[in-house]
Amino acid sequence: MKSTITTTLLLLLASMACLAENKTERQEIRISTDKVDLIFEVASDQRLYQIYLGERLSDTFDLTLLNRPECVSDNGTLEKRKREVYSCAGNEDYFEPALGIIHADGNRSSYLRFKEVKREAVKGGEEIVISLEDDQYPVKVDLHYVTYAKENIIKTWSILTHREKKNIVLTHMYSTMLYLEAAKYYLTEYASDWAEEVRQETQELTFGKKMVDTKLGSRANLFCQPFFEIGLNQPSQEQQGTVLMGTIGWTGNWRYTLEVDNNHLLCLLPGINPTASEYTLKPHTEFSTPEFIFTLSFTGSSSASRNFHDWAREYQIKDGMGQRISLLNNWENTYFDFDEEKLAECMKEANNLGVDLFLLDDGWFGNGDNAREGDYAGLGDWEVNHQKLPNGIPGLVKKAKESGVKFGIWIEPEMINPRSELMAKHPDWVIRQPNRDTYYYRNQLVLNLSNPQVQDYVFNVVDCIMTENPEVAFFKWDCNAPITNIYSSYHGSLQGNLYIDHAQGVRNVMKRVAEKYPHVPMMLCSGGGGRCDYESLKYFTEFWCSDNTDPVERIFIQWGFSKFFPAKAMCAHVTSWNKSASVKFRTDVASMCKLGFDIGLKELSADELEYCKKAIANWKRLNPAILEGDQYRLVSPYETNHMAVNYVSKDKREAVLFAYDVHPRFSETLYKVRPQGLDPNAMYKIEEINLMPGNSSNLKLNGSVVSGEYLMKVGLDAFTCHSMHSRVITFVRQ
Ligand code: DGJ
Repeated sequence: MKSTITTTLLLLLASMACLAENKTERQEIRISTDKVDLIFEVASDQRLYQIYLGERLSDTFDLTLLNRPECVSDNGTLEKRKREVYSCAGNEDYFEPALGIIHADGNRSSYLRFKEVKREAVKGGEEIVISLEDDQYPVKVDLHYVTYAKENIIKTWSILTHREKKNIVLTHMYSTMLYLEAAKYYLTEYASDWAEEVRQETQELTFGKKMVDTKLGSRANLFCQPFFEIGLNQPSQEQQGTVLMGTIGWTGNWRYTLEVDNNHLLCLLPGINPTASEYTLKPHTEFSTPEFIFTLSFTGSSSASRNFHDWAREYQIKDGMGQRISLLNNWENTYFDFDEEKLAECMKEANNLGVDLFLLDDGWFGNGDNAREGDYAGLGDWEVNHQKLPNGIPGLVKKAKESGVKFGIWIEPEMINPRSELMAKHPDWVIRQPNRDTYYYRNQLVLNLSNPQVQDYVFNVVDCIMTENPEVAFFKWDCNAPITNIYSSYHGSLQGNLYIDHAQGVRNVMKRVAEKYPHVPMMLCSGGGGRCDYESLKYFTEFWCSDNTDPVERIFIQWGFSKFFPAKAMCAHVTSWNKSASVKFRTDVASMCKLGFDIGLKELSADELEYCKKAIANWKRLNPAILEGDQYRLVSPYETNHMAVNYVSKDKREAVLFAYDVHPRFSETLYKVRPQGLDPNAMYKIEEINLMPGNSSNLKLNGSVVSGEYLMKVGLDAFTCHSMHSRVITFVRQ
């Protein structure tokens, strides 16, 4: 009895203290978009805590009601000191730290305290920089948050500097730390492999840590894509529910740690993977983490994706608002077996097809014993193969011009074959073990881009081509090998810095190239979709989603990538993969992204060629919807035997629906497809396009004019029971 009274009294006193505290001035830092609030508070000891992450609070009075970091919670229990914004190793928070430092004197603890906050308007929103400092060591961390109000995107990263007498060592280097609170958490992640990119998988997160990471150094996303979704209370759904979607901009080793603690709070830590990367930082130098970009949606992942698409086009991707060009690539048509004459034929085919550019792939360089006749030689020797191409690249540019198309070229400048002149000249430029057997991936090794001399060499690969041939109008920048032999002769005893310095070196070169050639479109490629992050995309206009161009597989791959990337950044080519699928089906699938072809026209019948020409013209006409508009994922291939998406131009004048029957069951019940994003009050003419010559549409309502409301509420009978069947249907406002 006595103890009950004592407890009640204590709780009462604590509640009064809490009320009193609520009256004292609170130092809050509010980071907001139109729909999201992330709110921090400085505690009395100047440490910084997250007090809210959720739907934006419209009444500022409500902010005063939020739990304080050192307060008694609503149910009267004492709230533990949790949710520190950038918690460090060695403190009393026993979970994964955002930052780990070994100070110059060997001390492994850090406590960061609030110093100041600065706000500045930037394009699209506001940048908030919160400065924290350790009170015992001269270490400063600036937490950066850029908010994009309209798109509901927040971009965040951290910059660390120190003035200790000697070097410090970083053991944990996360970009940020965010806390989520829900009864259940579901992680959707995207496992990958060559030709199997973006395999969507969902699991519940329960107590403990889940890590999603990569340790490949380069071609970093081969096994795992750098993006994820967290569904709160339910697995992430397309059209409803709360979901956080995030992605990191880093070409190197990244890690997401998701930790559910003893109080069922989820802490999310995106950042650099510390494996084999204890980073030694000299005094007065700056260490910047990668950017982590996230959105929080309360209406499912489809709208969250549109947030990403709008933001990426407007603020992040190279020439994000610019046009994209269609192309014909020769890789799958010729592989390494070509000469000038054969390529000239391909250029004529490109023109005949109606695409804008001919893209010359691998195999145009290296001479003598090092000629690039296969993937075993030549990488590093970026001189044109004089035997194959006696008139060099200028000769090819001229031929392309005569054929009425632009000319683009493939490079893989970060890599080297041991069979190359470069290897003979600069063995020290290569990442490889001095005292162990070398492990090769695709017969090649990775150049050490931490070395500024190597950065210059790689930059010059592009610069020399452009200087000799200013009319080169496109680059495909490939990256086929991971780092397999981690050792750098450039780093001496600081081997822990290699992975990170290398990734920064890659970024420096990409940046330099983009600054010098801002108007040249460039495709990121990494043996397919092994590199597609939002740091690289600042310097590239698009990326190659996968070497797997089987349209059935592409339906899944493109579905996954579309969660985070706009169609205009996703390259999709029509090839000969899966010949049991019609050319129409293959082309319709590629038409949902940045369309290209990688096929010899001799493989096509006259009807198929005519069909392709029309489909290209349709795709170009529909660019305002497909590339610049809003995308709605309607029917998931993961949940049905079909798939459907529609795109609507920003002015809602024109929309296009892509409906696919992948492998429907015999006599399966078919449901209507209801497009979204149309103007409900406008009248739209329905027309099925991309029909094979001689075929007419049997789509019900084809040619009719109906309201946007009808289409969105009732829908269309767009699916069939035929395997690998596709329909492309336009809605044009009358
Ligand atoms: C891998 C790419 O993904 C292919 O498209 C092609 O460019 C080859 N490399 C060339 O070696």
